[in-house]
Amino acid sequence: MLRVANVSAGYGGFQALFDVSLDVNAGESVAVIGPNGAGKTTLLRLISKLITPSSGDVLFDGKTLSDVPAHAVVARGIAQVPENRRLFPRLTAEENLRMGAFTARGKYAERLEQVYALFPRLKERRQQLAGTMSGGEQQMCAIGRALMSGPKLLLLDEPSAGLAPVVVQSMFDLVRRICAQGYTVLIVEQNIRQVLKVVSRAYLLDAGRIVQSGTAAELQAAPEIQKAYLGL
Ligand SMILES: Nc1ncnc2c1ncn2[C@@H]1O[C@H](COP(=O)(O)OP(=O)(O)O)[C@@H](O)[C@H]1O
Ligand SMILES: [Mg+2]
Repeated sequence: MLRVANVSAGYGGFQALFDVSLDVNAGESVAVIGPNGAGKTTLLRLISKLITPSSGDVLFDGKTLSDVPAHAVVARGIAQVPENRRLFPRLTAEENLRMGAFTARGKYAERLEQVYALFPRLKERRQQLAGTMSGGEQQMCAIGRALMSGPKLLLLDEPSAGLAPVVVQSMFDLVRRICAQGYTVLIVEQNIRQVLKVVSRAYLLDAGRIVQSGTAAELQAAPEIQKAYLGL
């Protein structure tokens, strides 16, 4: 479904990604793991067309995205849950969800029911201003907003970041449920231990380069990852 092929990219004179390649098959849940500053958000921005690669290509459903402007990416079937959620704080939870359906207005009611079935808590909170909800509820709302567009591919940027430790576990349970529903998910995370429990495959990004890849079990067992990232 998604192929990132030999992509390099950066900001002005600064190169953030070096010859990065990865694949996500339909129905798969894949993680890109790596420390702060590795280039994970840059990679998602590249897929969402918020930045342009200096070389290489991104293909979606076998077709290049090079000629697709950022505003048309959602209609193609790619929805991104951005770092720090970026909700509209002074709109209610439900109004935020409605924003996610702007490319699919005819499906609004049906999708809203699907999102509320996945997140009953959001239904309870639907009239609450998003800015006053808890971190976990805001993250649910941000994910729900992305799902309102009916994406083929869901991009999640560090959904556990900034959440209270007790909420982190339930956030990963939620990601697992989303994957189990058949969504195709690409998730980038620093919380390597937890994310490897919910995805099937992963790539390790370090200083802008993919340095390792394999099944989640292979990466959990890799000595370099155990030593550098899992504290074993
Ligand atoms: N808008 C920007 N302008 C310049 N440099 C940036 C910008 N955004 C990110 N970077 C740099 O690119 C590198 C990768 O950043 P990022 O993709 O945000 O990493 P991660 O999401 O893995 O923490 C970092 O060195 C960061 O400082
Ligand atoms: Mg980031």
